[in-house]
Amino acid sequence: MVILGIETSCDETAASIISGGSIRSNVIASQAVHETFGGVVPELASRAHHKTIWQTVKQALDEASLQPKDVDAIAVTQGPGLMGSLLVGLSFAKGLAISFNKPLIGVNHIDAHMYANFIEHDEVYPFVALIVSGGHTRLVYVDNLFSHKLLGDTRDDAAGEAFDKIGKILGLPYPAGPQVDERSKNGDPKFHDFPRSMIKKGLDFSFSGLKTSVLYYTQEMGDEFVNNHLDDICASVSAAITDVLTAKLKRAVQQTGVKHIMLAGGVSANSMLRKKMDLLSQRMHLTLMIPSVQYCTDNAAMIAKTGELKAREGLFDSLEIKPFARLQSVF
Ligand code: KG4
Ligand code: ZN
Repeated sequence: MVILGIETSCDETAASIISGGSIRSNVIASQAVHETFGGVVPELASRAHHKTIWQTVKQALDEASLQPKDVDAIAVTQGPGLMGSLLVGLSFAKGLAISFNKPLIGVNHIDAHMYANFIEHDEVYPFVALIVSGGHTRLVYVDNLFSHKLLGDTRDDAAGEAFDKIGKILGLPYPAGPQVDERSKNGDPKFHDFPRSMIKKGLDFSFSGLKTSVLYYTQEMGDEFVNNHLDDICASVSAAITDVLTAKLKRAVQQTGVKHIMLAGGVSANSMLRKKMDLLSQRMHLTLMIPSVQYCTDNAAMIAKTGELKAREGLFDSLEIKPFARLQSVF
């Protein structure tokens, strides 16, 4: 089965081909236009998707030496995401489906972050997934394909959002997450003891207190001190965020008794988190699934993979499907 995946939920226009479980192409056109604004501008994102979508899809097809008629189904992100951006991808996918008489598959972006793991790992159930992206921080119990139970959610900022907002306070350009990660590698994670909110109880998360604490700390210490100790401060922030994520995942494992754990979403590219997850899985004798870095942040290979899994189950959609901006409580 050959599936074309299309992703336009935020600021990456992406297309990918999967064939018989193998990724044949994975094209991502990132939108540099947002950098000067320090965050994604929805209107500009939609326009940039509109401008690049055909060439991105064409490149994915070309790299796989295919034409639209060779594809068996078209999988496309339905939500959550920016409404204008989703509309571009979904409308384009519908147009292709009509023109070439192909079935359409709507894909949940958050599902896709999880199932990206099955590009490189065998399917195993049940597992607990820690989904950490720019918009979501969730613990999910998955007992079978597309059978999910929400265990924990963020009460305020998502983990990626915390990395980005704190990075901005520290003067790093958007998106700051990867740069905080890079700087942390040269810093001392014990340099400053930032708060680990709600670490002792429950499976929900809160990161806004950490953000406020970093803001007060930088105001108190002054710009010169912050600049001179930027690597150490970044490492201490990363330690606080990853300690909370690791502790909550550990608690979820203890509560559910699963033998398999999974990391998903953009923040799973974080090197400190990957190390801590590795250690946790060794100590608790768990199988750990983490996507390789190219499948952690937004990409269309994860949409194509989830489309392939849905097609396998006969889960095709009508041309009437609508985009959705927000994630339902159960997905
Ligand atoms: O999953 P994703 O690409 O997009 C959403 O669906 O939100 O996640 C993007 C988030 C951003 O907040 C970005 O700063 C963060 O993932 N991120 C990282 C790293 N790479 C991406 N955060 C920390 N360390 C990284 N290496
Ligand atoms: Zn994402």
